[in-house]
Amino acid sequence: MEKAKIILDKDFAISPIDEKVFSSFVEPLGRCIYGGLYEPGHPAADEKGFRRDVLELIKPLNLTLNRFPGGNYVSTYRWEDSIGPKDKRPRRAEVAWQCIETNEFGLNEFADWSKLNGSDVMMTVNLATRGILEAMDCVEYCNFTGGTYWSDLRKSHGYQEPHGFTYWCLTNEIDGIWQVGQTTGADYGRLAREASKGMKLIDSNIKTVLAGSSSPGMDTFPSFDAEALDESYEFIDYLSIHQYLGNAKNDTPNYMAKPMSTDAYLKTAISTCDYIQARKRSNKQVHISFDEFNTWHTIEEEERFINKWETAPPLLEDVYTMEDALVLGGMLLAVLKNADRVRIANVSELVNCISHIRTSNMGGAWVLPPYYAFLHFTQYGRGTALQTQVISPKYDSTSFTDVPYLDSMATIADNGNITIFAINRSMENALPVEAELRGFDSYRVGKHIVLESGNPKDTNTEDNPNFVTPHEKGNAVIEEGMVRAKLPKLSWNVIVLEKK
Ligand code: AHR
Repeated sequence: MEKAKIILDKDFAISPIDEKVFSSFVEPLGRCIYGGLYEPGHPAADEKGFRRDVLELIKPLNLTLNRFPGGNYVSTYRWEDSIGPKDKRPRRAEVAWQCIETNEFGLNEFADWSKLNGSDVMMTVNLATRGILEAMDCVEYCNFTGGTYWSDLRKSHGYQEPHGFTYWCLTNEIDGIWQVGQTTGADYGRLAREASKGMKLIDSNIKTVLAGSSSPGMDTFPSFDAEALDESYEFIDYLSIHQYLGNAKNDTPNYMAKPMSTDAYLKTAISTCDYIQARKRSNKQVHISFDEFNTWHTIEEEERFINKWETAPPLLEDVYTMEDALVLGGMLLAVLKNADRVRIANVSELVNCISHIRTSNMGGAWVLPPYYAFLHFTQYGRGTALQTQVISPKYDSTSFTDVPYLDSMATIADNGNITIFAINRSMENALPVEAELRGFDSYRVGKHIVLESGNPKDTNTEDNPNFVTPHEKGNAVIEEGMVRAKLPKLSWNVIVLEKK
C-alpha cells in the first residue's frame, strides 16, 4: 500500500488536555453495579461488597470523574431512596430499564467506591420528572458542611465531611422520546437555567452541565442544543452530547470510518455553543462534556423489554471485539483533536453494560479489546494535544467518501515525551507510515505498542481472557528525523518517543 505521512510540528500545539476527558460512567443498569463492581459475598469483595478484582482492572485507567447514576435511569430517579439505612430503602420499579431497583447500592456507596479508585463523582439530577428543589436538596445533602436538614441527615448517615461533588449534570437526554419527561430545547433550557441557579446558590463552587443532544442522528440536533443554550447560557458551564457507534450491517470498512462522524459532531456542537455566545455578545465560552460515548450493538435489540422486572439481569452485555477497539480508539482520537473545547469525556459505561470490563456473577473479571485502547489513551493521552497533519491513501465506504486509511493524533507529555497514536483502518494491508518531526530534536523510540488480531471479530472471554492483548513488538524507528513504521492491518498503535 502507498505510504502515509504525518507532520508533527512543535508549534502546532492545540491546547493542554483536560484531565476530565479521562472519565467514565456508571449507571444502575443490568449488572453494571450489582454483580459488576458490587457483589457482597463474592470471594474478591471487600467488607463493603466492592469487588477488588474489578477495582484492579479500573485502577490503571486513573479515571478523573465517574458520572452517576444516569443515563436514562435518572429520568425517574429519586435520589433520597438511595441514602440512609439499607433496610429502610424502598424497592422501585425502575422504568428506563424495566428492572427492580433495590437501592441497596446508593449515592453514598458510590462516593465510597469512587474514592477507592481515586476518581470524583459527576452527579446527575433528575429534572425530567422531578424539579428544581429536589436538585437543590441533593446539592445540600452532598456538599453542604452542616447545620441544615439535608447536611445533618448526611452526617447522621455516617458522612461527617461533605462529598464536595463539583460536576453536576442537569438531567439526561431529555431530547429523546424514550425519556419520561421529554421536552423541547427552550422549555428544558429555562428549567435547567433555574435549576443551575438554585444549585449554585447552595454551593457556588459547582459546575453544571446542560443536557444537549443524545446523538447526531436526532432530528432536533443542533437546534435543541441552540434553544437550550439560548435560555441558559450564562448559568451553565458545559454542553453535554452523546454518541454511540455500531456495526449493525456488519460492514467493517464503513464501521472503521464512523469516528469521522464523531469529529464532525463535536465540531458542530462547539460551533453551536459559539453561535449562542456570539448572539449573546458574551465573553463566556461554554465547553463540551462528551459524557457518554462508545460503540454499542445491542442498542437495536430493545433487550430491556425482554427482561421485565428482574433485579440486575444481564442487559446490554455487548461482546466487544478487535474492530470495536479501533472504533473506540477513533472516537478517543476525535476527543484529542478537539481538546481545546472538549473538557469532559466519559466512556460509557464502566462495567458489564456496554462495557469493556466484564464479570460473571460469583466468578471472574476480564477485559475486552477496547479496554486497551482506552487504557493507552489514559496512559499516554495526558499533556498537550498536538495537531497532526495526515496525508494518507484513502478509500470510499458505504456512507463515507475519502476515508484516510490512517487516523492519527499526537500528544506531548509534561516530561517532553511525544506519543503518536495511529490507527490503520485497512482490513487487507499493512500501512507504511512516515512521521516528520519538525522542531523536535533528540528523540528515540521508547516503545511501539500494537493492538492487532487476525480477525476483526476476535475477542476475549472468561476462559480465554488474553486472546487479544497488546504487544510491544511494533517496528517504529527514527531515521534522519523521521519516524518510520509499518502498521499492521486493522491495528491500533501507540508510538512513544522519548526525549534523549
Ligand atoms: O448508556 C446507556 C444509555 O444510553 C444511557 O442510559 C442513556 O443516556 C443513553 O441513551
